[in-house]
Amino acid sequence: MRPPRKVTRKNGESDKLETGSEMKSVILAGGQATRLRPLTCLRPKAMVPIANTPFMEHFLNYLRSYGVTEAILALGHLPDQIRDYFGNGDRIGVRLIVSIEDRPLGTAGAVKNAERYLDDLFLVFNGDVLTDIDLGAMLEFHHRSRALVTIALVPVEDPSAYGVADIDDTGMIRQFIEKPPRDKALSNLINAGIYLISPDVLKRIPSGAFSMFEKDVFPGLSAAGKLYGYCSTAYWIDIGTPAKYLTANHDAVAGRVKLGLRGALSGQPLIAGTECRIAQDAEITGPVMIGNKCVIASGSRINGPTAIGDSCRIGRNVVIDQAVLWDNVTVEDGAVLRHCVICSNTTIGTGVKMLDGCLVGENVTVKKDSLIDRGCCIWPDRVT
Ligand code: GDD
Ligand code: MG
Repeated sequence: MRPPRKVTRKNGESDKLETGSEMKSVILAGGQATRLRPLTCLRPKAMVPIANTPFMEHFLNYLRSYGVTEAILALGHLPDQIRDYFGNGDRIGVRLIVSIEDRPLGTAGAVKNAERYLDDLFLVFNGDVLTDIDLGAMLEFHHRSRALVTIALVPVEDPSAYGVADIDDTGMIRQFIEKPPRDKALSNLINAGIYLISPDVLKRIPSGAFSMFEKDVFPGLSAAGKLYGYCSTAYWIDIGTPAKYLTANHDAVAGRVKLGLRGALSGQPLIAGTECRIAQDAEITGPVMIGNKCVIASGSRINGPTAIGDSCRIGRNVVIDQAVLWDNVTVEDGAVLRHCVICSNTTIGTGVKMLDGCLVGENVTVKKDSLIDRGCCIWPDRVT
């Protein structure tokens, strides 16, 4: 956890973000996560594990490390799993308020729906970005610029899947365009999905109607000279596609993003939980993270970065190469898994070969000796 940094406003009041009091945050986590299916057929994107911990838990830890003590979760798709897991947030140390939409209201509509909790400068997060962007520095920038909204911006190679900003020397956003064609992108600086928003902006959002910051709010604010971009080169990834989800896991296990994971940053090749039985001749080339109560039998080879959840059983002479296994996965003798994601309660039969980019949903059985070709998806509850 980084040391608290005191940020002082012009009027001498100390700011709330770093001092642990009241800055509120809204986390947008109500999307359907269709691009991540089959991983998100039975669980919301916020609950998919990154390095064996639900994504939202990393996120709340990140907020807490800045002294944020209260977060409003704007939920829609499968909200009960998130509520059941986090409760009122006591365990994590961030007080949680749940705001549920009967139907999706869009990114801005979801925040408007939580308006009653928001009366001062607040933070909004897309609930699917894994990052260690410095929120304290962003807040300082926001106060200096006197913007109504400050967006965190990060550089990417291909901006066409994101909101793109064109900024001037002061950071003012001259133009904001959501998902432009690659040849129409004004820069490679994209919306990182983190906003500091003055409550006055809520007046620009209609109540009870679908509305998006990216299309309905930011362009108007930009035209009025009130939208600024805080540029960061910190770690940032949107976990919302299978390839990015796998990369986020690799980066988390390898310690490329500051998550405070046990051992990850100290470069240990193997981080294993409690009550694991790992055969002496199993060959583990790190970084590999293994949960509690796992068994890895003789002759198996595991190449990192790989994450293996709790209660997994890996048979003899299995090869697992840069993969992600959720909880309670059984991999029988001689199976080979490369660059794939295997969800919970799944059995991979003896001798199965699974090539790059395969995604196997929850509660699946893959029969022995099957060859699962590159990029195949197996839906939950199947025997195949
Ligand atoms: N509550 C609620 N209601 N949440 C929503 C809704 C909604 O109607 N729609 C989307 N969300 C949540 C999603 O769950 C996700 O956490 C976040 O808002 C962003 O939605 P995505 O569907 O993942 O958007 P995107 O990745 O295509 O684009 C957005 O994120 C990019 C950065 O990752 C945009 O904000 C882009 O401008 C941005 O660059
Ligand atoms: Mg996204």
